[in-house]
Amino acid sequence: MADKATLTIDGKSYEFPIITGTEKEQAIDIKTLRGATGGITTIDPGYKNTGSCESAITFLDGEKGILRYRGYSIEELAEKADFLETAYLLIFGELPTKQQLDKFHADIKSESHVDEDMKKILDGFPKSAHPMGVLSALTSALIAFNPSTVNVDSEEDMYAAIVKLLAKFPVLAAWAMRKKKSQPLDYGDNSLGYVENFHKMMFAKPNEEYKVDKAVIEAIDKLLILHADHEQNCSTSTVRIVGSSHAGLFASISAGISALWGPLHGGANQAVIEMLEAIKEDGGDTKKYMAKAKDKEDPFRLMGFGHRVYKNFDPRAKIIKVAADDVLTQLGIEDPVLDIAKGLEKEALEDPYFVDRKLYPNVDFYSGIIYRALDIPVEMFTVMFAVGRLPGWIAQWREMRLGKEPIGRPRQVYTGENLRSFKEVSER
Ligand code: CMC
Repeated sequence: MADKATLTIDGKSYEFPIITGTEKEQAIDIKTLRGATGGITTIDPGYKNTGSCESAITFLDGEKGILRYRGYSIEELAEKADFLETAYLLIFGELPTKQQLDKFHADIKSESHVDEDMKKILDGFPKSAHPMGVLSALTSALIAFNPSTVNVDSEEDMYAAIVKLLAKFPVLAAWAMRKKKSQPLDYGDNSLGYVENFHKMMFAKPNEEYKVDKAVIEAIDKLLILHADHEQNCSTSTVRIVGSSHAGLFASISAGISALWGPLHGGANQAVIEMLEAIKEDGGDTKKYMAKAKDKEDPFRLMGFGHRVYKNFDPRAKIIKVAADDVLTQLGIEDPVLDIAKGLEKEALEDPYFVDRKLYPNVDFYSGIIYRALDIPVEMFTVMFAVGRLPGWIAQWREMRLGKEPIGRPRQVYTGENLRSFKEVSER
């Protein structure tokens, strides 16, 4: 494998080392480029060719459809692990022993209360507010109630902040939903598992004993694992870049939530189900929507299709498609939208437009169908993604801070006006 690259500009050659990752991924290290060339930079909108960091957390190979957390395949984790041990794995690098997991869970439980004054902030939102906006704001507001700054040189401090966030985040996520439904807030029950407790906080009725089908909790657990990390995606890069200014953990995560909200990223799960519903209302004519997706004059995109990195298949989508079938069968639900989704997938996989551009269903194509079967409101879908992604964001923030990474600050190529003189308003 090559270990250096040569760049020639105006007949002058510059050499740059090529670094190789543990999975033989290679990258030209251009740290010295500007200094060596007297100020020439690179340009790469959307960072399609730019590695922003070295990371030991998640490996994915978009051509082969591989996704691994800390070396473990997503298929094996989705089948054998639970969400909390996956979170521990992502954040601390190894699967926890029974003792470590028990302690981790106990520490989380001991922090799973939220200051009562947070309710006043929640009260200030109109019921129409999107839960992602509410969640981002409440996560940021947590800073005011937990003001101590994290000393990143102290593992103890770091651990305490991580535990606090993992404990309080599901409370806020569930509250965002209950606010929307005009239901009293619930603090959960610490005798339950992490995911079951989150479910209770979302769904428990004040005048009924809380009961849930095991299949429901298993389905949510699996979905959260599948969303738990995805290396340097838009929201994770946001978390790392905000954190690189030494903003705290909660502030960095709050920014990540905003980045995740967009329909090209985590917001796609809501957009997919809205699209499938619209197709159903319109008579189920999938061909019409396929044509719209291919028409360059039409802004419509087939939501839940395509991925910046996966150019073969999204391994998460494969697992979720099977899970969607299983959950609907187990709960005895028939959802015509699932048939529309399967029809669209079949047509797209045979259509040269999608085949040539390597557009396959992504993680969000089928996840909304499962969420809907579990009675989770559409506007909560991206919140579910955020709850799943939280350990990944935390792991990436921790890695960035422990690695003493410099502040993130890209360059640009200026294309505006050259120097000109100010004109008085009367002369303009
Ligand atoms: N429907 C129709 N055409 C598409 C789609 C789509 N969903 N996705 C990409 N294309 C076309 C695009 O028009 C372009 O065509 P051309 O080469 O003729 O100009 C080509 O495919 C390449 O697309 P791109 O926008 O340059 O690719 P990208 O890597 O910048 O974008 C994406 C990736 C995920 C933003 C995009 O595929 C998309 O908008 N998909 C729909 C939204 C979606 O499902 N997002 C969820 C992503 S997975 C969850 C997560 O965020 O982690």
